[in-house]
Amino acid sequence: QKLEFSLEMIEKGNFEHFMLKEIYEQPKAIEDSLRGRMNASQGWIKLGGLDEYINRIDKAERFIITACGTSWHSGMIGEYLLEDLARIPVEVEYASEFRYRNPIIRDNDVVIAISQSGETADTLAAIELAKERQALIYGICNVIGSSIARASHAGSYTHAGPEIGVASTKAFSTQVSIITLIALQIAQVKGTIPTSKMREILYELENISKKIEETLLLNDQIKEIAAIYKDANNFLYLGRGYNFPVALEGALKLKEISYIHAEGYPAAEMKHGPIALIDENMPVVFLATNKSAYEKIVSNVQEVKARKGKIIAVVLKGDTQIAELADHVIEVPETEEILSPLITIVPLQLLAYHIAIMRGCNVDQPRNLAKSVTVE
Ligand code: G6P
Repeated sequence: QKLEFSLEMIEKGNFEHFMLKEIYEQPKAIEDSLRGRMNASQGWIKLGGLDEYINRIDKAERFIITACGTSWHSGMIGEYLLEDLARIPVEVEYASEFRYRNPIIRDNDVVIAISQSGETADTLAAIELAKERQALIYGICNVIGSSIARASHAGSYTHAGPEIGVASTKAFSTQVSIITLIALQIAQVKGTIPTSKMREILYELENISKKIEETLLLNDQIKEIAAIYKDANNFLYLGRGYNFPVALEGALKLKEISYIHAEGYPAAEMKHGPIALIDENMPVVFLATNKSAYEKIVSNVQEVKARKGKIIAVVLKGDTQIAELADHVIEVPETEEILSPLITIVPLQLLAYHIAIMRGCNVDQPRNLAKSVTVE
């Protein structure tokens, strides 16, 4: 009997779908994105693209990050990182809004464009506009030689490898790792971060892949949670600080592939609207790994519990306080808070994946969506 393998089967390896394969590739993709660009024991970071323009970047009064979709979410994490570490004001802009609203762009602005494909029409048009106004354009792209990479003055490739699943996973985490390096390198140049702190973060970054591997071991537990909530009509995702953009990204993953309505919100904003939606049919995913705002998150969890919402909480290993309140806890390894999105996004990707599969959806090619949106 002749055995036949399609190219697709070979490319997927042991995984049933590209999306799952790409979720599992994240530890390696992140290592690839960091390789040769940093060294924790020697305390250096070196992004070639950044080096070339470092004087201009150092003098920039403002950064504008522009992107679409998932890349916009990593841009938002970039805002927190750049402001936190390098003390530069940052604005994060949907490329489609930015380009059409007569934005103020100055010649000493640095515009960072983030795009997996490097072909998104709105992002490309946004940087063309910024370029006309003499801003420096820094591209963070995955696809080598793509239009956005070529249109940028400088940039860094994410080196995630080809991403086939329409819902972005490993491209997102490598975008976050690159923007972390950018923020750290600028912080080093500006002297806004103590050397000892820098070493700690670099050391954690060097070990983050192992912690993501550990998080991937939660797959079976997450699958069980998915089975309980697969028929929900709505989901709410809540997080604070660095976990707020993760909440947005988690909600987007679920919407994209399972067609369940989901919203991400800053946990504290819940009381200004979404709380009205909470009843016993509403699953609420909490990202509760922040040490800095822990008590605040606990009280948000209590507010949801009081209204009988179903609580799925992503917490740090060993957490007891939220575990007492939540219906389900997903325990993830601890890391530096600024790096936590690289870990907390993983259970949300897996949750969306399993729910979508259980609902019979085509996870790799969801309806109405395209991998790269080249129309405006
Ligand atoms: C599409 C894709 C998303 C992606 C977005 C931006 O909507 O389905 O996964 O995040 O475009 O794409 P880009 O290639 O610019 O990152």
